[in-house]
Amino acid sequence: MLYDLARPFIFSVDAEKAHSLTIAGLKALPLGPAPHSDSVLATTMAGLHFPNPVGMAPGFDKNGEVPDALVRMGFGFAEVGTLTPRPQTGNPKPRIFRLPQDRAVINRLGFNNQGQDKAIPRLSRMRRRMAKGLLGINIGANKDSDDRIADYVIGVKNMAPLADYLTVNISSPNTPGLRALQDKGALEELLSAVMEARGDDRPRDDRPPVFLKVAPDLEPADIEDIVDVSMKQKIDALIISNTTISRPDLLSSNKQETGGLSGNPLKSLALQRLRDFRATSGGKIPLIGVGGIASAEDAYARIKAGATLVQIYTAMIYEGPAIAKRINRELAKMVKRDGLTSISEAVGADDK
Ligand code: FNR
Repeated sequence: MLYDLARPFIFSVDAEKAHSLTIAGLKALPLGPAPHSDSVLATTMAGLHFPNPVGMAPGFDKNGEVPDALVRMGFGFAEVGTLTPRPQTGNPKPRIFRLPQDRAVINRLGFNNQGQDKAIPRLSRMRRRMAKGLLGINIGANKDSDDRIADYVIGVKNMAPLADYLTVNISSPNTPGLRALQDKGALEELLSAVMEARGDDRPRDDRPPVFLKVAPDLEPADIEDIVDVSMKQKIDALIISNTTISRPDLLSSNKQETGGLSGNPLKSLALQRLRDFRATSGGKIPLIGVGGIASAEDAYARIKAGATLVQIYTAMIYEGPAIAKRINRELAKMVKRDGLTSISEAVGADDK
């Protein structure tokens, strides 16, 4: 309700400015303790225990400044980043565009972030404060890097000791050539270097699970290759998906902007890709569903299609900060209505 009143003011401010103000506000506000999640929502994936399945997607907290605040807002986990080894400014502004009639966003930020060295001390402090939720760290490559695979190796070495899980992000459309790392040969080389860097010789606490985040703009043969390589390299989960470069029918005046599209127009594409990955992998690799999720119905549909966890970003811009609590409250009701004792029993229910 409060957010409904505040939204016209927030939307009158440039989108990137509004975002910076939000992060500053979350840093300054004395938020209460993390809300209690209904026990039917607790779930396990890749050996990690999540209090609820609703996470904050990366891109909101690129520098790892507020993951504890996100958990206090009701998210079961917060994925920070994308963090690159060296700081970079990203593309020229403006580079985030709201599409209000479509409940969507187009961004071409280009991995603007303060770099991993700056984030390390902050995240080690932060992690101690995250009593209830989990911390994911999403890593990427610098735009001007001569050796992008080496950047991911640095990212793993820097961030593994701080993260509950790591995400290898090769699906941003805003770093030229990055998504070519999804091609079979390149992916094989990347993932074997990443898994070696994570190292089986490290103590368990420094050896977090590794997830791979992919684009929705993939052909069936690409999906087969990604599943093959991920299983071979023992990737712990796939995150489906990042923003799309496609442009489904859109109403807003900003629709011609270059960049990745997120929010409601991405919903059916991201759900379809999730189904494709579920079918291709035969359910053998855990999945995280993201893209256009704005309600408990959306989240539950993604879970029944095979996602163990879900993430949201754009819907929070339109619905406000209470979204995680609201989705969790409604999800718990749906699980009980269906006579299940745990949300994990709903994962992939569409197969049955
Ligand atoms: C993103 N997203 C993103 N993803 C990622 O892996 N690293 C990143 O740095 C970013 N940055 C980013 C910035 C902005 C402004 C947006 C809107 C999105 C993608 C995000 O995590 C998610 O995959 C998509 O936005 C789809 O989910 P929603 O937004 O439709 O819920």
